[in-house]
Amino acid sequence: MNYINIANGPQNVSAIVQGCMRMPALNKEEAAKVIRTAYDCGVNFFDHATCYGNGEAETRFAEAFPMTGIKREDLFLQSKCGLCFERNEFDWTKENILASVDGILQRLKTDYLDTLLLHRPDVLFEPEEVAEAFDILEKSGKVRFFGVSNLVPMQVELLKKFVKQPLVINQVQLSIEQSQLIDQALYMNNKTTEFSVNRDGNALDYCRLNDITIQAWSPLQKGMFGGTFIDDPEYPKLNAALSEIGEREGVSKAAVAIAWILRHPARMQAIIGTMNPAHITDICAASDVKLSHHDWYALYLAAGKYLP
Ligand SMILES: NC(=O)c1ccc[n+]([C@@H]2O[C@H](COP(=O)([O-])OP(=O)(O)OC[C@H]3O[C@@H](n4cnc5c(N)ncnc54)[C@H](OP(=O)(O)O)[C@@H]3O)[C@@H](O)[C@H]2O)c1
Repeated sequence: MNYINIANGPQNVSAIVQGCMRMPALNKEEAAKVIRTAYDCGVNFFDHATCYGNGEAETRFAEAFPMTGIKREDLFLQSKCGLCFERNEFDWTKENILASVDGILQRLKTDYLDTLLLHRPDVLFEPEEVAEAFDILEKSGKVRFFGVSNLVPMQVELLKKFVKQPLVINQVQLSIEQSQLIDQALYMNNKTTEFSVNRDGNALDYCRLNDITIQAWSPLQKGMFGGTFIDDPEYPKLNAALSEIGEREGVSKAAVAIAWILRHPARMQAIIGTMNPAHITDICAASDVKLSHHDWYALYLAAGKYLP
């Protein structure tokens, strides 16, 4: 496993993160196996959110955790708040941020979160309120580091004007199939393709310039939760390219798709979502694969892009 240092944030975190969004479907024995398998593969970073199973992902994780024999201090636990499906709204009020963190800590049965991310932008957010909430959370020791998810650069700038703590992470969607984060700059100013549409305000370059680590969510998904492109007959070229490189490197197609993200010089983390221990083990081999410059482009083109 490769480890990276998050600038101004946690150090020596695994490049591959185990996402826990799908954990509510497991019983506690199965959840313990997922946590232990990921940990044995070198994963030391786990991603949660208050909305995953409406808190059930965090509850299941905590029920399972004592069965793994892993110490709390040997892991980085991250959760996200602000996305309130049960109320059909996004909510970054001070009151909701503070109450959410208390709920997270209770459910995870821990005293502190390593990182707290604001999940999706609350259009009505008051940056001063966020700043007050972060100060309280930092002073009380409940949260060590702060970040965001799915935010465009100008929203980060607005937050930064008020929030004292560095925003160290932006968690955004990126897979070899959902590569908008990368496409827009490559096809810059090209009227003939929608790949040039700037959908995120140049979040990738902004994050690199501002030392914000990108976490790529749903790295194996097509569309927005459209299922995985791995072995999908609608992606024959991509699967053939993944397979060819996978055979050469002795790893699975899924591992090559993750290695494609890790090859980017932004040194991102990839957040995987499988709850299948065999798939976790397969995918973690991605960390040892060093794709060449040529491999990276070959995979990108096989996913349906072209060079402008
Ligand atoms: N910030 C946000 O807004 C946001 C949004 C969504 C997700 N997330 C985070 O990102 C994490 C990952 O999301 P995700 O679950 O959509 O990620 P993903 O890793 O892209 O997709 C998981 C899917 O890929 C399948 N898969 C994995 N390995 C496979 C293989 N070798 N062959 C075939 N299928 C394979 C899994 O099936 P199996 O289970 O059968 O392996 C599962 O259905 C979440 O847990 C969450 O932490 C964040």
